This record gives sequence, C-alpha cells and structure tokens, in this order.
Amino acid sequence: MTIKLAVFDAYGTLFDVDAAARALAADDARLAEVWPKLAFDWRRKQLEYSWLREVMGEYVDFWQLTRDGLDWAMEAQGIDDPALAERLMGLYRELPAYPEVSAMLDALGHRGIGRAILTNGAPEMVEAAVHAAGIGHSLDDVISVALVNRYKPAQAVYDLVETRTGCKPHEVLFVSSNGWDAAGASRAGFTVAWVNRAGLPLERLPHKPRHILRDLSGVPALI
Ligand code: LAC
Repeated sequence: MTIKLAVFDAYGTLFDVDAAARALAADDARLAEVWPKLAFDWRRKQLEYSWLREVMGEYVDFWQLTRDGLDWAMEAQGIDDPALAERLMGLYRELPAYPEVSAMLDALGHRGIGRAILTNGAPEMVEAAVHAAGIGHSLDDVISVALVNRYKPAQAVYDLVETRTGCKPHEVLFVSSNGWDAAGASRAGFTVAWVNRAGLPLERLPHKPRHILRDLSGVPALI
C-alpha cells in the first residue's frame, strides 16, 4: 500500500487551540486562574455544537460555532465582556502551529508526499491561521467542510479528500489529535494516525486508529 497524501485535521492537530486563552491570561487577571477551564469549555462547546448541528441538519459555519462556544464558556465563568470576547476571537484567528509542524510538513514534501488539511474550519479562518503560522507554502490543499456544509465525522466530509485530490482512501494517511475524528477517518478507509498529546484514553468507538503518536514529529516515519 502506497501512501501518496497526508491529510491533517487543523484545530488541535496543527494549531494549538488553547493558545488564545493562554495568551490573554498573562495580562487579564480574570483569566489568570480560570483560563484552562475557559479554554476547555470553549473547545468542548465548539465541538458539541458541530456534532449537534450536524445531527439537527442546522449548519452554520465554524467561525460562528467558535463564537457560540466562547460565549457559553465565558458565561460559565461569570465573565460578561464583549471586548474580551473580541480579543479572544482575534487570537483564535491566528492560532500558532505546534512547534514541530513546519519541519514535519517539509520532511513529507521532500519525500514527494502530498500535504493537505481537511477541517471543519470556515475557509477564511483556516486561511488566516495557515498564513499566520507561515505554513501555506508547505501545503498542497486546504479543504473545508464549507464545500458540503456538513461537519465531521459525516462521511460526506471525508469524501471531499478524493473529490478534491483524486487520491483513494487507501492512498491517504489521515492525522488527527481528535479521537472521534480519527474514528471517522478510519471508518472512511484512511490509514489513521491519532496524535494523543494529552495522553488521553482511546475513544470507545468503532474504527480504531492504525497508529498512535505523542506529537507530529513521528508522522514522516509512518510513510
Ligand atoms: C477541525 C476540527 C475538528 O479542524 O478541529 O476539523
């Protein structure tokens, strides 16, 4: 089996989703203690809303879900501050990539492996993050669910990889730090690497990942 293309999830996999709240915690006393809980709730609600809206057939784009998740998380902390919310959203638009991302993508490129993103993210927000991280030149394609207005783990989302690139699922290594996304991608027929940075338990879902990594630096060696 020859892998021709590595496809990456974006948020939490290439980009550090905790970075926005962590960055503001340094200069906003209200966030100093609660930022880990705020970041956790923000991410959890953003994802919950994507799954729930997928089930309900009520798609709105991921930027709106990100804002909705933040609003919930801030209210849970008793923080009512629209200006702070705007600052956090601004930082979310330009989340940093994890430190090993750039070298890992270059290593794949040198070996002739295609590199793409498949993300729930709205096109404009993903492009902004890719640009801010300076990795645009290391990516061959950025594929957003906005092409089908559905959310992972809907099969229609994973089908976009073949539609856009011509690569069959067995030619694709799919890399995600989200265990549920790893399950969806395995179900879709990709070879999957789950990046388990936090040392979390394996998801109790069907369709286990083929590989488990602690960070992205081990990706090139899988191919
Ligand atoms: C994404 C979400 C799952 O980037 O984080 O698709």
